Amino acid sequence: MSTPNLSRRYSCDNKDEATIQKEVDELCCLFTNARIKWQKSPFREIILSVLEKDLGPLFTTCNEDDHHHVDSAICMALGSFHVENDYKWTSSMLQLIFFLDVVELLYRLSHGAEHIKLLAQDPRFNRVDTAFLSIFDIEVLDAPKAVDYITTKTFLFTPCIIKKPLLASILPDRDPLLYVGHNISRLLQDLTSPIPAPGVTASLGMTEQLVEKAGMALDKDIQGLAAVARGFLFPKRSCRVGKQMYPDASLKNIDKRDEAWSLAMFTLQTMWIYFRQEESSLEKLHGGSK
Ligand SMILES: C[S@@+](CC[C@H](N)C(=O)[O-])C[C@H]1O[C@@H](n2cnc3c(N)ncnc32)[C@H](O)[C@@H]1O
Repeated sequence: MSTPNLSRRYSCDNKDEATIQKEVDELCCLFTNARIKWQKSPFREIILSVLEKDLGPLFTTCNEDDHHHVDSAICMALGSFHVENDYKWTSSMLQLIFFLDVVELLYRLSHGAEHIKLLAQDPRFNRVDTAFLSIFDIEVLDAPKAVDYITTKTFLFTPCIIKKPLLASILPDRDPLLYVGHNISRLLQDLTSPIPAPGVTASLGMTEQLVEKAGMALDKDIQGLAAVARGFLFPKRSCRVGKQMYPDASLKNIDKRDEAWSLAMFTLQTMWIYFRQEESSLEKLHGGSK
């Protein structure tokens, strides 16, 4: 299948239905090609087996009233597929494929017992993105509605989102069964370590999180946010997505011949997975799923 020639404009407000449909068809073609590539990747098998190994017992040891099944899968910050930059849409496409693969695994583990509602939120989504995502039964929500749908029965995927809103709105009082996204321990570390003096960040080559933290220091509730991160981490088990295959995540593994794909894989591999290990404290509090 040949790759369509995509001359993408960011806004599609003026596009008629036929043009939108044509671009959705092009995205479907890109999706098919990318999924074939993903399915051939040895990494796919490894990451799905890691997920199955950790999630499987949660699905088999519970009785009918168990709290561990998943009834919603929410993807926040996928990014628009409708951009000129190849690097951007490749990352978003791979993340979508990964998200759908995990949803399929969750269906398999629950023996199809429950319907999983699929939701996505990104302020950048346009009409083409929304129409494309609807093909997979993914409903697009306007920000910040997605937060209201996160419960203890959620698989939450945030492939890159600015950290302050993440902490401030997604994590408090939520306890998703499965979360894939930020390294929350690292975030907590950054929140609680000394604040860099203004102006020294660039020269010292400090991490994005630390730079962000300098901005966050203006917030009176930084300690509150750190407490939220701590609350989220307990009681969960975590690992980096790519740990089994690439113990030392490094940009030196990037394949220059297929750079956009390779970088997209790298981004995915640097994300973290959090499995809830026991009944959530929220569930204990509410006597069931929140
Ligand atoms: C760095 S981009 C990541 C895009 C894509 N996942 C990738 O890896 O290339 C961050 C994304 O977060 C989105 N974003 C910002 N605020 C958001 C919110 N409140 N809810 C969902 N997405 C949000 C932005 O629109 C943007 O697409």
